[in-house]
Amino acid sequence: MKIAIRRKAKPRAGIEDEYRTSLREYVAGGGEPALGRAYELGRRALTEQKSLVEMASLHHQAVLSLVCGTESEKRREKLLRSSGEFFAECLSPYEMAHRGFQDAVKALRQLNETLEEEIKRIAYAVHDEAGQLLVAVHLALAEVTPELPEPQQVQVARIKELLNQVEKHLRRYSHELRPTILDDLGWIPAIRFLAEGISKRAALPIHIDASVSERLPGAIETTLYRIVQEALTNAVKHAKAGNVWIRAWRENLLLCCSIRDDGGGFDSCQAQARAGRKGLGLIAMQERVTSIGGTLRIESRPGQGTELSIRLPLEGDHANSHRTRG
Ligand SMILES: Nc1ncnc2c1ncn2[C@@H]1O[C@H](COP(=O)(O)OP(=O)(O)OP(=O)(O)O)[C@@H](O)[C@H]1O
Ligand SMILES: [Mg+2]
Repeated sequence: MKIAIRRKAKPRAGIEDEYRTSLREYVAGGGEPALGRAYELGRRALTEQKSLVEMASLHHQAVLSLVCGTESEKRREKLLRSSGEFFAECLSPYEMAHRGFQDAVKALRQLNETLEEEIKRIAYAVHDEAGQLLVAVHLALAEVTPELPEPQQVQVARIKELLNQVEKHLRRYSHELRPTILDDLGWIPAIRFLAEGISKRAALPIHIDASVSERLPGAIETTLYRIVQEALTNAVKHAKAGNVWIRAWRENLLLCCSIRDDGGGFDSCQAQARAGRKGLGLIAMQERVTSIGGTLRIESRPGQGTELSIRLPLEGDHANSHRTRG
């Protein structure tokens, strides 16, 4: 009886060893096949999440060991030149990944712009179309009311009163959805308007302390407005906060903003990592900030409130790219 002996797979050499060996082969005249290995090594390094600094240091060490034993100046020059070619080939997957990332950020920015246009359209539809329908209902009621007996006239008056309230709320919501103040006067007046409405509806004091008064690029103003809007919605919906503080200030070419509540807090790491989570607010915030080159930090712990800190660069093409103003 034959016994099948399964050979153990040869353990894969560490990336450092493989790099040194392949570089040696290439500088010794390994040609295209060795260059192909440089590319594969770059891909492997990327999957193993090696940073560019780590790769540069690995290359530096490998080149040093090659050059050390080389006396002739000419030979050293040749070694350095072909090592440079090998390194450049190894980094090309990084270059491609970087380009992919830039494309993704660009797509995200375009998506946000489209979304913003759509929000604007809905806001106008709610404001204008629903408003006109309500006017039509008012006119129809006014027509039938004189012919109704007294008790029904009282009921119609009550219906009119309710319709007025619906109209008031719809106007308020449509303005909050995409406030014209945001375009006309900027994000600080816009968040003051938003905070005033939410504060009244939710009986939640919202304190605003902003030391920036100048207008900012459209992309930044829209991003800040949307983040504050989501943060305030979360503070009302989840935090059961007693107070919210919004601060905004400038640090050279950075716009900084913090939104803090004193509510129940949450485990932010768990919430961000939770598989199959349903909420989109925090993800959308993160994506909006990334798309214009900024950073968002969420600090929260159960029982200790929540603080969102945003830092957005005021210069660069992302800051000037939006066309949502106007
Ligand atoms: N200020 C806050 N205080 C307490 N918990 C919060 C706060 N902000 C977010 N959370 C927690 O983080 C989760 C994710 O928030 P996120 O805004 O992404 O989703 P959501 O509010 O549940 O849904 P959506 O925003 O899509 O309507 C929330 O469900 C909540 O548990
Ligand atoms: Mg939310």
